[in-house]
Amino acid sequence: MTIAILDFGSQFSQLIARRVREAGVYCELFPWDAPPDRVTAIMPNGIILSGGPNSVYDAGAPHLQPYIIEAAVPVLGICYGMHLLAHALGGQVTGSNKREYGQAQVQMLPSELLPGAIANQPASTEDMALSVWMSHGDNVTRLPPGFESIAQSANAPISGMVDRARKLYAIQFHPEVNHTQHGREIISNFVHEICGCDASWSPGNIVEQSIKRIKQQVGARQVICGLSGGVDSSVAAALVHRAIGDQLTCVFVDTGMMRKGEGDQVIETFRQNLGIRLIAINASEDFLSALHNVSDPEAKRTIIGEKFVRTFESVLDSEIGAQSDSDWQTSTDQTSKQFLLCQGTLYPDVIESRGPERQSAAKIKTHHNVGGLPANMRFELLEPLRFLFKDEVRNIGLELGLPDDIVWRQPFPGPGLAVRCLGNITWERLERLRAADAIMQEEFARENLLRTTSQAFVVLLPVRSVGVMGDGRTYAEVCAIRAVTTDDFMTADWARIPYDVLARVSSRIVNEVPGINRVTYDITSKPPGTIEWE
Ligand code: XMP
Repeated sequence: MTIAILDFGSQFSQLIARRVREAGVYCELFPWDAPPDRVTAIMPNGIILSGGPNSVYDAGAPHLQPYIIEAAVPVLGICYGMHLLAHALGGQVTGSNKREYGQAQVQMLPSELLPGAIANQPASTEDMALSVWMSHGDNVTRLPPGFESIAQSANAPISGMVDRARKLYAIQFHPEVNHTQHGREIISNFVHEICGCDASWSPGNIVEQSIKRIKQQVGARQVICGLSGGVDSSVAAALVHRAIGDQLTCVFVDTGMMRKGEGDQVIETFRQNLGIRLIAINASEDFLSALHNVSDPEAKRTIIGEKFVRTFESVLDSEIGAQSDSDWQTSTDQTSKQFLLCQGTLYPDVIESRGPERQSAAKIKTHHNVGGLPANMRFELLEPLRFLFKDEVRNIGLELGLPDDIVWRQPFPGPGLAVRCLGNITWERLERLRAADAIMQEEFARENLLRTTSQAFVVLLPVRSVGVMGDGRTYAEVCAIRAVTTDDFMTADWARIPYDVLARVSSRIVNEVPGINRVTYDITSKPPGTIEWE
């Protein structure tokens, strides 16, 4: 049972998908103009139309493709999605240059979306006052034939509407954001009560379905999986191992850019605890010499991405079985490739969003597990997590028996410390960064701050500063502590870490790490900053 979500460019489209999955229902997100047969191929039991930045009257604005109504499944239009339904079905949408943005009160009549008697309301009220999140300019000012109004607010007399016969529902506000009271309930009611989906999207089922899919794709071939120590590649490896056992060989490449103790932990967990075949290679000299004198962030990423794949290929040559050159056809026919490369790519990385303002979105960074693979790879890709969100990945990690400290590990970029060691990368500077980062991790862990922040790490800066230690002058490197909170890593706020924790981290780094004499705390949110410094 599935739900299709059409993305009209709202910043919250992925959040809608997460809420539907949280309600235990599988869903996929499509660009608004996806070919109809791609959407209908998943046989959706309902369709959700996201919000978006446009007015239905804008030239070239995204429109409602006829198949959506013709599919005769329940539809929920949110914000712009509501305007589209009204506009397409004979109602009236009125433009306004006054945007209503932020918290608002709506009066909502009981309906299938939110039956009466909700919490915190006097039992006698016929309609319910909800505090909701609004973000719109246009309003629906006349209902289309067959619809009745189910909600109103001071600024939008028609804030919700329903055509029960065709099961078409629409609301002006955003049920997917946390700021909307009973938002999760509205989405859950839509998918369960209105669309009739059961809550079968559970970790156990995801594992079962993934195993089936993996077996189908792999057949009798061999899979190689690069482990980075992060949660995504770890869960991907554990899942693939559950599906195909010894056809999987994991490779842990010590690039020299891992955090302190990371290599040992990966080897222990996978080889000793999970019994997975694991080849560990120390390639740090090789990576370091390729990065010699490279300080441009994108160049670092490209070099590392390419090196990773070439390293796997050489492992295949040397360790997994001699292959004659003719076996290594760089054919474009994927299934003719003898080996698969497993990657922990997640759904947010593969969603093509087609919001009008995103078509020309500037490229900020290449995340190398998506963009940086060489075109002439000798592998077919196996991406068992490509339809999953991070929270789902963590849940199936637990289901598969991975230890808490891997499952709850904060994300770590593929290029590792290379993008946190600003400027030239040398072994000495990496060791400095590793030592400083280990101190920060230890102090944050003591205060449970690694669970309450989304990502926390140290960055080594390409500057030196003057200091005084004992009675002597120092002229040494500077590091920055970066700690952020975020739901989706697209936007982030800097974490308000207690001063005494920062003080302890700073004092320990300066005293215990030779070569660093100054510690700063990064108080930039994203945007305008990014989470990593490079
Ligand atoms: P930014 O710095 O773009 O980071 O705000 C967002 C999230 O992505 C991670 N990140 C990467 N992950 N390869 C990765 O696998 C990369 O090149 C890369 N760069 C950033 C970053 O750690 C954060 O979680």
